[in-house]
Amino acid sequence: MPHTLRLAMVFVIGFSALAVPVGSQEPQEPQPKSRPKLEPIAETKLLMEGMAHPNFRGVERILSEKQAEDKSWTFARGQALLIAETANLLMLRPPKNQGQATWFERAMELRAQATQLAQTVARKDLERSRAALGSVAASCNRCHQSFRVPVQITAFEEK
Ligand code: HEC
Repeated sequence: MPHTLRLAMVFVIGFSALAVPVGSQEPQEPQPKSRPKLEPIAETKLLMEGMAHPNFRGVERILSEKQAEDKSWTFARGQALLIAETANLLMLRPPKNQGQATWFERAMELRAQATQLAQTVARKDLERSRAALGSVAASCNRCHQSFRVPVQITAFEEK
């Protein structure tokens, strides 16, 4: 018997043994006793340089093309969603003492704007996507202003 087939059979047998119902009720998923605690690992600066900024520039580049290909739109949607996920990671890193409420508000705003951008990009709506990227830039800047970070993000800057 070829090796892979034998392996597959073992798997099928093993699996069906598991599937035998224990009682008359639906088997319940065991609930985890505790959820792992989320912990920030990288510096905020690294999230900016490695995630927020490159994904922002990536979407900007694709939205600057006259006729973006289908796969570019798909890629840009992914980049917009990664900006939204970066906002989730920012929520793990509020400033230690003051300004936590503002930080969470700004991060939630970035998440909402980036999610909105992903939706317009998914529809390949160039005009709305360009406007949505402008709104993402505005929410980057609102946080930078609130925390006195001298970084100004501009979409479609003349180069
Ligand atoms: C919730 C607040 C917040 C949001 C939202 C935010 N940033 Fe930042 N950003 C910061 C902070 C704080 C720093 C300073 C980090 C440091 O130097 O320790 C920073 C720094 C930066 C830097 C400079 C990094 C360096 O090399 O010094 C860039 C570039 C940047 N952000 C890009 C962006 C972009 C692009 C977005 C939006 C897609 C964004 N940021 C959204 C808080 C934010």
